Amino acid sequence: NSGIGLSMAHELARQGAIVCLACRDQGKATAARNEILQRTPGAQVELYKLDLSSFAAIHAFVQAFAQRHDRLDALINNAGAVPMRQQFTQEGFELQFGGNYLGPFLLTHLLMPLLQVTADEGGIGRGDARIVHLSSIAHNLGRIDLDTAKGRKPYRVLPAYAQSKLGNLMFSHALARKLPAGITSQAMHPGGVASPIYRELPRWQYAVMRPFLIGPERPGKLAAELAIGSNRRGENGGYFSIQHPRIVSSAARDQAMQETLYKQSCLWAEVSPLSARGTIRRAA
Ligand SMILES: NC(=O)c1ccc[n+]([C@@H]2O[C@H](COP(=O)([O-])OP(=O)(O)OC[C@H]3O[C@@H](n4cnc5c(N)ncnc54)[C@H](OP(=O)(O)O)[C@@H]3O)[C@@H](O)[C@H]2O)c1
Repeated sequence: NSGIGLSMAHELARQGAIVCLACRDQGKATAARNEILQRTPGAQVELYKLDLSSFAAIHAFVQAFAQRHDRLDALINNAGAVPMRQQFTQEGFELQFGGNYLGPFLLTHLLMPLLQVTADEGGIGRGDARIVHLSSIAHNLGRIDLDTAKGRKPYRVLPAYAQSKLGNLMFSHALARKLPAGITSQAMHPGGVASPIYRELPRWQYAVMRPFLIGPERPGKLAAELAIGSNRRGENGGYFSIQHPRIVSSAARDQAMQETLYKQSCLWAEVSPLSARGTIRRAA
């Protein structure tokens, strides 16, 4: 409903997609839909309630979505927050780990059957369903420390954020190996983008950063391209960035750690692990 997510919603609506906004604040979601309809009259925009910091809310959202749709073409895991003070999800996870990483992890697994329907269109695994993850260049500063999942002492915002964004990227890489044919997983860094995500930063700090931030339009277009662009069909396991250099940290590429995180996340989220499908076609 704001920033990069709103921008990609505009672009997807412009291209004729049915856009489903899954948001925690229905007032903001309604305002976002109105803005999209103003710019793209006749756009198909549906609103759903989704709070990624609650497993129950995630299950409820998937149930509501499945009542209206029997398939899903593309899932964009965009939501993210950067709280300056330590907060916790409903299940007691530190909010950045739980809301930015583990919530989307659960959501993705629960939506898998609907992505599978799209994947099997035209024959088993011949279709084109996609998952896109909003990671960040900040993943390079991250370290996976499973002991911090339920809280940090002391809490420092940047390591917690960086870990959550590293988690997004490692999940994307792990998924790329595990997803059945016809479903792909890609990740992106949107660039440094002027958006409400920085609302809790001290004003002087934001003022220093602001000249270096870009608008949400280019990353919005990139996310839409990864989600539905015909030029991206079949690409899997890529990491894209609006700004360069586009560096993937060695931690993000560590397959053993990806597996450890994946398995533990399945236990936390109470979902069955996907098994490896083998060879993948890697994106450039
Ligand atoms: N902006 C940047 O420079 C930058 C750089 C690298 C990566 N990113 C990533 O890009 C993504 C989008 O960020 P943005 O810059 O567009 O920020 P934004 O405008 O603040 O958008 C974040 C969105 O996530 C939603 N959200 C946060 N926590 C949620 C929860 N628990 N459940 C449901 N929705 C939740 C927010 O909802 P509310 O409006 O209700 O808060 C908001 O709609 C994030 O994943 C962020 O980490 C951003």
